[in-house]
Amino acid sequence: MALDSRQQAGADSGDLSDAGAPGEKPEAWEPAWVLEVLERFYDRVFEDLMIGYLFRGKDRARLIAKEWEWTLRLFGDSRPYTGRGMREVHRGLGILRGHFDRRQTILEEVLKESRIPAGLQREWLQHNESLRSLILESESEQKPA
Ligand code: HEM
Repeated sequence: MALDSRQQAGADSGDLSDAGAPGEKPEAWEPAWVLEVLERFYDRVFEDLMIGYLFRGKDRARLIAKEWEWTLRLFGDSRPYTGRGMREVHRGLGILRGHFDRRQTILEEVLKESRIPAGLQREWLQHNESLRSLILESESEQKPA
C-alpha cells in the first residue's frame, strides 16, 4: 500500500504548495510518511488506556486508509477523501474533551518521532484542533475550562 501510494502521488513530488511564508521553500513530504505516522498512531490509540475502548471492534485498516486520504488532502494532495463526514462518523460515540486532548497528545508524540517536517506537524495538529467542535459530543464540552 505504501508503495502504491507513493507511485500514485508521483513519489517525491508531494510538496505542500502553500506551507510557510510566501517565498519560502515548501517543506518536502511523502504520502508514505503520512501512512507510517497513521499506522503508529492507531497502534497506540487502540492500546491506549484512556481512549482505546472507543475503538474496540472498529476496523483499524479502514480508519487508517480514510484518515490517510483526509490528511493528504490537508497537505495539498488531489486524491479525494472517500470516508464519511466528520460529524456523522463521530456522532453518538460520546467523545469528550479529555478524549479529544488525549488523541491530540498521542498524535503529537508520534509526529515528533516521524520524518514529517516540523511545519507540517504543526499544520496537521492545528487542523485536527480546528475539528474539535465537529467531533465532541456536547456543546458544554467544547468550551475551554
Ligand atoms: C481530531 C480529528 C479527527 C480526525 C481527523 C478523525 C478522523 C476519522 C476518520 C477519517 C474516521 C473514519 C471515517 C470512515 O469510516 O469513513 C474516524 C472514525 C472514528 N474516529 Fe475519528 N477523527 C478525529 C477525532 C477523533 C477522536 C477525538 C476520537 C475519540 C477519541 C475519534 C474516534 C473515532 C472512532 C471510534 C471512529 C470509528 C467510528 C466507526 O467506525 O463507527 N476520532 N475518525
